Formats: sequence, structure tokens, C-alpha cells
Amino acid sequence: MSLIRTLRALFSDRLSVIERLGAEIPRIGRADFGRLSVVLVNVPELVPEVLIERAEDFVKGPVLRVISRPVFGDGLLTSEGELHRQRRRLVAPALAHQRMVHYAEVMEQHTSALADSWRDGNSLDIVEAMMGLTLGIVCRTLFDVDVPGEAADIGHDIMTAQSYAMRQIRVPFRLPQGKARAALGRLNDRIYGIIRERRASGGDRGDLLSMLLLARDEETGMQMDDVAVRDEAMTLFLAGHETTALATGYSWYLLAQHPEYFERLRAEGLPFALQIMKESLRLFPPAYAIARTAVRDTAIGGFPIREGDLVFIAQWLLHRDPRYFEEPMRFDPDRFLPEREAQIPRYAYLPFGGGRRICIGNHFALTEGQIILNTIAQRFRMEPASRRPLRFEPLITLRPRGGIPVRLHENK
Ligand code: HEM
Repeated sequence: MSLIRTLRALFSDRLSVIERLGAEIPRIGRADFGRLSVVLVNVPELVPEVLIERAEDFVKGPVLRVISRPVFGDGLLTSEGELHRQRRRLVAPALAHQRMVHYAEVMEQHTSALADSWRDGNSLDIVEAMMGLTLGIVCRTLFDVDVPGEAADIGHDIMTAQSYAMRQIRVPFRLPQGKARAALGRLNDRIYGIIRERRASGGDRGDLLSMLLLARDEETGMQMDDVAVRDEAMTLFLAGHETTALATGYSWYLLAQHPEYFERLRAEGLPFALQIMKESLRLFPPAYAIARTAVRDTAIGGFPIREGDLVFIAQWLLHRDPRYFEEPMRFDPDRFLPEREAQIPRYAYLPFGGGRRICIGNHFALTEGQIILNTIAQRFRMEPASRRPLRFEPLITLRPRGGIPVRLHENK
């Protein structure tokens, strides 16, 4: 089989490939798909070798590295080596704790506005609702623009460009065409327009874009040029809203299946919302596998890795492994009571990855998830509006196929 066909087959059904590998490989092992050799790392104690100790021996896997490049450019998700380190230093302050207070206000306002638009007895796709909500939040926190209006247009173009990136996984190595190319063109014009305007007016508007424009590397004094700011803005936009929408969407799914927790959420507020987010990220990790390509011959736990091998660490497997989680399929938010969470083996739970490439938006995501769950649960409960079992469309992120329909009940 050609490499392209192999990759296509592998990525069009990643979840079942990963499950099959997991069933055969309890610790670390290799499976060959034509010319492509895949190594699964399936125990937490070997994870830091890939993500930290031997990180220099690996680059990101082929999906991000090759296929998403026209969309993300040299942004944090896709860049490597020294460029990645420099960019990470520049972007990190925009997502630091002290900025979160302002972002949290935006999150609250947008969530309350969504709840205002809901009525008792309504049925809706909660994943779609969460996508709209996190899109609005990211537009406001990133560019200080509002939905509806400019943000809706930007959102639409980003979605088109992204679905292009997704389609590339099935039919890889083609340049953007038709609608996708037009969307990408418009998006670039718009983002560069916003950047130019912002540079001309100067000052800090309190959003992520201002932070990116003002950032200066303490070691080198370097600032980002327009292309760099565009790449990082696009990366944060895409990486920042879909994953969080899925995490909250799956949280509502789990709560609708276990209505007894709605009362606790209402009574306990943010701390319990955090436990629910974490447990939902365990059972349905939006980033369900981390992929790396070996750039030289190396070894993990003594197991030989060859240059070109694709190495997978699958959250989907580790998070559901009875060796690390008692009754792993049971929804139990109290696993994340602080004293119990401390007993989870290191790297058995890694919804945000680990090492130097750990998710830079993890505090943002957990803050956003907590606020969304808490704000809505004060006013509404949900029940499943369909008996259809959950099915997945696992591409870059773990999306539920056909959404998650729920019925709303307003708290009296
Ligand atoms: C629940 C929500 C989220 C999940 C599950 C998630 C998951 C992840 C994971 C697993 C990685 C590491 C990928 C790898 O090592 O190959 C990652 C990286 C990244 N995430 Fe997130 N993420 C979430 C939310 C966010 C948010 C809100 C932002 C931005 C505001 C964001 C921005 C990024 C960026 C820029 C990277 C690349 C970091 C680097 O390589 O230095 N993510 N994310």
C-alpha cells in the first residue's frame, strides 16, 4: 500500500485502530501498516520519555505537521525546535493566570446570554450550542470582536478552512481549493486587517491579540511580525474553541445521563463543575491521542524506535484503563476530589498532553468549562432527547457524530 493510502486508512478510522492496538499492546509495541510503522506507548511510566526526556527525537505527527499547515502556519501547534520555544515564551503571558480574571467575565456574560435565550422544554443539540458559545467567547477574548457581526463571519470562514483541513486527512496533500481557499483568503485579509488596525491605534485592549502584538521576548528582545501574530491568533482560535465546546458538550451528556449530579452542581458551584469537567475529559478526551514522528533512531523504555516511526500515546486508552482507574467506564466526578485526584498515577490522565508541548490553554479551558457548567446549571437541567447511543467522528478532535440532543428543564 502506498504511504498516502496507508495514512488515509489510518486516519479515517483512528479510534478503532487505536482500540485494536490497545488490545494487543499492553505496554509498548509496534504494528505495521504497509510502509508505516506505528508504535503504541500504553503505560503512563513511559509517557515522559516521549514527551520530555527524548522530546528532541520527535516532531509532531503527520496530521498537524503537514496537513494543517496552510491554516496554522508556524503557530504553536505546528512549529518545532527553537522557533517553537521562542513562540511559546511569547504567547504564554497572554494566557497567564492574571489575564484570566478578565476572560472569566467575558465567559460569564456570554454564557448568561445563551441561557437567557433558552426556554423550558426546548430540545437542542448541546454540542452545537456549546460550539456557538465557545466561538463567541474566543472571538471576544482573542480579537475583542462580538457575535453577531464580524465574529460570526470570522467564525464561518474558520470553520470552512478547518473542514478543509479535516478533509485533507481523507484526501491528503492537496492545496486548498474552491470555497476553502476563498475562506482562507478572506480570513487572512480580515485577520491582517485587524492586526494593522491594532498596530496603528496601539495600546492594550485587554484581549489576546493585544498581548501577542505587545509581547517581547525577554531573552532576545524579539517581537512577532504580522505573519507570526496571524499564525498564533489562528492557532489559538481553532485550538481554543472546539476542544472546550466538546468538553462541555460531553459534560452535559454525562450529566443528562446522571441527573442526580445536577443538584450537587447547583449547590456546590465552581469546585464541583471543575470535577465534572475533569471526569468528562477522562471519559471523552477531545484530544484522544497524541502523535509524534521519530526524527532519528531512538528507544523508549528500551524498546527500539526507528526514524520515521509514528508514536501514539492514546488518552482514549490510558483514561479508560482499569489498571489506573477503578471501574473506568463509570462516571464518577469524585475521582477528582483533590485527595483522590492526587492518587491517579502520573501521566495516566493527560487530557492536555504533557511536557514542553502541554496545552498552553489548559487554564483557559478549565476556567471556561467551569463557568459554563456552573452558570447554566444554576438555571437549567437537561435530559437526553434521544436514545441513540453515542457515536464518534474522530478526526483531529473527538466529535460526536450527529451531535448530542438534550431537552431543557428550567429550575423552579
Ligand atoms: C478542553 C479543552 C482542550 C483540550 C482537551 C486541549 C488539548 C490539548 C493537547 C492534548 C495538546 C497537546 C498536543 C500534543 O502534544 O500533540 C494541546 C496543545 C495546545 N493547545 Fe490545547 N486543549 C484544549 C483547550 C485549549 C485552549 C482553550 C487553547 C487556547 C486558548 C488551546 C491551545 C493550545 C495550543 C496553542 C497548543 C500547542 C501548544 C504547544 O505545542 O506548545 N487549547 N491542547
